[in-house]
Amino acid sequence: MPKHAIATNHAHLRLDASLTIPLYKQLYERLRGAILAGQLERGARLPSTRLLASELGVSRSTTALAYEMLLLEGFLESRVGQGTVVARDLPAFLLTEQSTSWQAEQSNAPKPRSARRRHEDQPSDAKTIFRGGEPALDLFPYDTWARLIARHARHSLPAHARYQAVAGYFPLREAIAAQIGITRGVRCTPDQIIMTAGSQGALDLAIRTLLKPGEPAWIENPGYFGARGALAAAGARLVPVPVDEQGLDVARGQMLCPTARLVSTTPSHQFPTGVTMSLHRRLALLEWASQAEAWILEDDYDSEYRFSGRPLEALQGLDRDGRVIYIGTFSKTLFPALRLGYLVAPIALIEPLLATRTYIDVHVPILEQLALNEFLREGHFARHLRRMLRHYQQRRDALASELRAHMSELLDVHAPEVGMHLVGWLPADKDDRRAAELAAQAGLSVTPISDYSLAPLPRGGLLFGYASTSEEDIRIGVRRLAAALERL
Ligand SMILES: Cc1ncc(COP(=O)(O)O)c(C=O)c1O
Repeated sequence: MPKHAIATNHAHLRLDASLTIPLYKQLYERLRGAILAGQLERGARLPSTRLLASELGVSRSTTALAYEMLLLEGFLESRVGQGTVVARDLPAFLLTEQSTSWQAEQSNAPKPRSARRRHEDQPSDAKTIFRGGEPALDLFPYDTWARLIARHARHSLPAHARYQAVAGYFPLREAIAAQIGITRGVRCTPDQIIMTAGSQGALDLAIRTLLKPGEPAWIENPGYFGARGALAAAGARLVPVPVDEQGLDVARGQMLCPTARLVSTTPSHQFPTGVTMSLHRRLALLEWASQAEAWILEDDYDSEYRFSGRPLEALQGLDRDGRVIYIGTFSKTLFPALRLGYLVAPIALIEPLLATRTYIDVHVPILEQLALNEFLREGHFARHLRRMLRHYQQRRDALASELRAHMSELLDVHAPEVGMHLVGWLPADKDDRRAAELAAQAGLSVTPISDYSLAPLPRGGLLFGYASTSEEDIRIGVRRLAAALERL
């Protein structure tokens, strides 16, 4: 099919408003079917959402939502300077598959690359060098954890085997309230805390409760795919808002969509760029949210690991109008498969959130909550964090100095003061997806920043996780990467 074919020949895309299937889903299915059938070639450029909307006589949110779902599933890509194109690296077997019903196809759909990487079982070989988002799982105190789990399974479980509180185990919520009050400046009582299946469970619960399908939501661009996915699943109209050196550009957000219902943000350590939102922006964001009666989802996913500098307290602590839902996770401090996190909401939202929760998964498993409560109260958590902080700081320093020593001509690197990953920015004329492909061929797991972005970025970059990579592997990995990117 020639480039721009759907803009000039869209008879097969005609949508039917009389069907019960929403228009965006119809469009999604047609485009997906055309890609699978090979009618839309890999790399073929799609018209803008605005142009296609006017060609088809539908609203722009319809085309934007359909594109968003296809971007998320990896059928489309957005490329700097090229707009939206059909993904170039669709697996060959998918291209012979015929379009069937939307439900039936879900199991075959390619996941977004970043999500694919995150959820696949990884062999413990060189492919995990620089893998992002993962703590040092070889250094977790499994024996202590096993002891706590065994003790509670034997002694506490018989008294806790019935359905438990939907919000979670109360003593654990007390321990968390005390912890985040001291370390993050979060103001809350245990009654404001709901335990969830990681941050993802918290994002999903908050979004399902607070946003109706079709309502607009700001997302950071580039930003966290987990938040983007939860919003897309709830039928939100996504409004990508740029991020600069002060964090989310609130004024741009207000220009793009002043009436957004909700914003998802990572103010302490923006994912993936690593910037900390300035105080000025924090106040502007809170001010806008108060006026627009919008909700702020504050994803505070890794600020336990601060190496230097003054910690800025959570946005939640500055909120005087009850607009912020603070989200924390134990995926980075314990291990991701634990699936325990929490949200802290204004008290007026607790009842509606719990009502939603009752019909999702009722509550998170009790045994891990009992063990975690003791892990926090007996001081194992603080001890483990202190130990990891030392390791991660050494690994961060090793990575930053190796990159500066061997790749300073290609990568612009700023060592972060917090967290578990670092971004090396490429010159504006270099394609970060191509760079990541070359790195993957060399057995390295770096992610292109474009994968986290819905709108074009001024320049691409590569995300390096350092927490789960030893200093030795960091040195090997950087040398291998420098050699691989000579072909870029
Ligand atoms: C921005 C961000 N939020 C949250 C998480 C943690 O997600 P979860 O708690 O669902 O494991 C991650 C992990 O990769 C992340 O990068």
